Amino acid sequence: MNVLGIETSCDETAAAVVTDRREILANEIWSQVEEHRPFGGVVPEVAARSHVIGVDAVIDRAMNKAGIGFSDLDAVAATGGPGLIGGVLVGVMTAKAIASVLKAPFIGVNHLEAHALTVRLTESETEGKAAFPYLLLLVSGGHCQLLIVEGVGRYQRLGTTIDDALGEAFDKTAKMLGLGYSGGPRVEAAARRGDPSRFKLPRPLLGRDNCDFSFSGLKTKVRQTIEDLPEGPLRDEDVSDICASFQMAATDVLVDRCARAIDIFQSRFETTGAMVVAGGVAANMQIRDSIIELARSTDMRFLAPPAALCTDNGAMVAWAGLERLKAGYTDGADFRPRPRWPLDPQAA
Ligand code: KG4
Ligand code: ZN
Repeated sequence: MNVLGIETSCDETAAAVVTDRREILANEIWSQVEEHRPFGGVVPEVAARSHVIGVDAVIDRAMNKAGIGFSDLDAVAATGGPGLIGGVLVGVMTAKAIASVLKAPFIGVNHLEAHALTVRLTESETEGKAAFPYLLLLVSGGHCQLLIVEGVGRYQRLGTTIDDALGEAFDKTAKMLGLGYSGGPRVEAAARRGDPSRFKLPRPLLGRDNCDFSFSGLKTKVRQTIEDLPEGPLRDEDVSDICASFQMAATDVLVDRCARAIDIFQSRFETTGAMVVAGGVAANMQIRDSIIELARSTDMRFLAPPAALCTDNGAMVAWAGLERLKAGYTDGADFRPRPRWPLDPQAA
């Protein structure tokens, strides 16, 4: 079984082909980072136009690399939301067009579900590694949530951010420090040279009896810390120390909130289960290592996709499409892209 997946919900135009044998035949990405860099962040109109310009070539490259013809596809999937609606429309319309010519099923994939299921593509399920249910920390530029993944299309949200997503806080910190866009990897690189104890930054909601997050206070404190430094250009050492202090505060918060979620998960299920991290911020090595440590201390198996499959990509969309196809969930030509699309509609 071969599925083509298209991702256009933010600033990456991506297309991939995966098989039901967990092979990634192709995973092509065209990043728009350079287009958005002058603006210091993603401009939705610029993104939508770039997707229109790039999507055909990216799909073409993916199909060529996969070495199969369009008639070998069993389904065509595209991110149907949540995300920047102009871009989502481009991917959905393209996928619907290809599917209708092929008379193959079209699948509108929830971008968050794509992040959530990627680990089932990269970890062997036959060894029970990524079997349902598992606990998921989904941390990206737009989301920060803890979820129980019970099955395809079945999610229970334990907590979410009440203000900013963590990726957004990484990006804003980078911007304030003049590190530019995209922020996460640059903050991580600078943090490696820094002293995490030099600046005292807050750990919002630490110790609370729920699984929610908050990062806006941390971001504000970073701004005040920068303003309190002596006038003049920032010194490299200051930048590194702020990045290290910020990353440490964020890591402490994540570990604390995950520990709470593990308690809940383990009291609800017989299995000790797996702790999975996904989304762009899960590419961060300090965050990963700290959660690995937490998982070990609570007998949870730790699973994460490789860094390149944590940030947005086509393989995750193709794989989620394949999982949905196997579960019997396909969509019609009347599928409507959704700028907002919670995984757990029951959650408050
Ligand atoms: O999942 P993703 O590619 O797009 C969304 O769905 O949002 O996540 C992008 C986010 C950005 O905010 C980026 O700064 C962050 O993930 N990110 C990182 C790292 N790599 C990407 N944050 C911290 N450390 C990283 N190494
Ligand atoms: Zn994403």
